[in-house]
Amino acid sequence: MIFIANWKMFGGLNSLNSINPVIKFLKIFKNKKSVKIIYCPPTTLIYPMYKRLKNTPLMVGGQNCHENHKSGAFTGSINATMLKNVGASYVIIGHSENRRNGENNSLINQKIKSAIKSGLNVIFCIGETLGERKKKLTKKILNKQITSGLKKIKNKKKILISYEPVWAIGTGLIPKINELYETISFIKNKFKDYKVLYGGSVNPKNIKDLKTIEKLDGFLIGGASQNSKKFIDIIKKTYN
Ligand code: PGA
Repeated sequence: MIFIANWKMFGGLNSLNSINPVIKFLKIFKNKKSVKIIYCPPTTLIYPMYKRLKNTPLMVGGQNCHENHKSGAFTGSINATMLKNVGASYVIIGHSENRRNGENNSLINQKIKSAIKSGLNVIFCIGETLGERKKKLTKKILNKQITSGLKKIKNKKKILISYEPVWAIGTGLIPKINELYETISFIKNKFKDYKVLYGGSVNPKNIKDLKTIEKLDGFLIGGASQNSKKFIDIIKKTYN
C-alpha cells in the first residue's frame, strides 16, 4: 500500500525530527516490503528531507509545480526539473486547494506532462465539490477531470490517481463506504491499470472502514501525517 504524507503549508527544519519514528517503525514492521511512504513537505523542506531519507525506503515529493519544465521568467514559481534536482521523485498535481485558486483541467494536464518529462512520478488529485455531489454529478466530474488531466499521457505507471472529495478534505468527513466503493470501482473500471488512492480526512479511527475497500492502492494523508504517531497508526491499522 502507498501512503502519501501531504504536509501542505506546515513545517520548518525542526519538523524533520518527526519523521524519525516513522523511519524506525518501518524498519521493524512485518509488512514493510509492501509499504511505500512518500513525504510531500513544503518546497523549503524537500532537500533537507531528501538528505535525511536518502538511505531509507521513504521517498520525497513536491506539492505542485509550474507547467513549464524549462527555466523561465516566472517569479515565485518552481518547475518539476527543479523539484527533481533537489531530490523529489514525486509531485502532487491538481490538488483541490490549487484547483480552487484557478488551476483548470488543461493547466493540470500541462503540469502532468512537464512533470513526466522531468522524470517525476505524479500524484494526480481529482474530486467533486459538495454541490456537485448533491447534484449527482460525481462520476461526470471525475470522468472529465481524469480524461482532460491525462490527455495524451501514456505512461500509466508514472501516475497515481488520488480520489479526494473536496468536501472531505480537512473536515473530518469521509464518504459512506459503499459510496466510496462505488466511486473507486468506477475509476478503476474506466481507467484501467492506474493505481488509485483515497484522500480526505483519513485518520487512525476511520482507516478501519476505509481499508475494507480492497481495490484501493493507498491513501493520501494531510493533517494526520504531520503527527508521526497518527501516521504510524494509520499504516499499522491498514494491515490489521
Ligand atoms: P486531510 O488532507 O487528510 O487533512 O483531509 C487531505 C489532502 O491533502 O488532500
